[in-house]
Amino acid sequence: MSKPFRLGVIGSGQGSNFVAIAEAITAGRIPAEIVLVLSDVETAGILEHARQRQLPARYLPPGKFRTKLEEAAEQSLVAQLEAAQVDLVVLAGFMRVLKGDFLRAFAGRIVNIHPSLLPCFPGLQAWKQALDYGVKVTGCTVHFVDAGIDSGAIIGQQTVPVLDHDTPETLHRRIHQAEHELYPRCVAALAQGDISVHGRLVFWRPKT
Ligand code: GRF
Repeated sequence: MSKPFRLGVIGSGQGSNFVAIAEAITAGRIPAEIVLVLSDVETAGILEHARQRQLPARYLPPGKFRTKLEEAAEQSLVAQLEAAQVDLVVLAGFMRVLKGDFLRAFAGRIVNIHPSLLPCFPGLQAWKQALDYGVKVTGCTVHFVDAGIDSGAIIGQQTVPVLDHDTPETLHRRIHQAEHELYPRCVAALAQGDISVHGRLVFWRPKT
């Protein structure tokens, strides 16, 4: 039997995408196992959800910066993920920019989910950016992580209509729901080896 595909998940927040992925694994929709969950926020919901599922979950003290990890923290992140022998690093609401050593250690094996149809509205509060701009359709994007902000090759996208009476909260809620479908689908495709990458272009193996 082939070795199970090993996921390391990193997040800073409530962890609803983590839960969606964990539930998809339990339901047999993703042929993978979650071998490590890390958070830069000691009280983050993602750690709580992981512990409830008896998965290894650890707090990673981020150091003194607000938007990135201190060098020692980034080294510890790399060391812990390497020790856990992860095949894929899944960013699920991780709110700090990751830099050189981390990106080199897991080149081509880091994915993220962003709450807009990239390349529109990278950065923070993408749902609010979409609402303020007046687009009629937005959504979410799963992409590989590179050195830019939300700029890596796009793996999958799901659309969400913007409704006339949407507030930032109602729109964000519907985008979140779309994320919970899209992210497990993309992680499953990666775990199954159904994704091939040619520069910026990502292809899905046709379903047989
Ligand atoms: C999601 O909206 C995702 O797009 C963004 O961070 C949020 C994480 O939410 N990158 P959750 O912690 O998975 O609920």
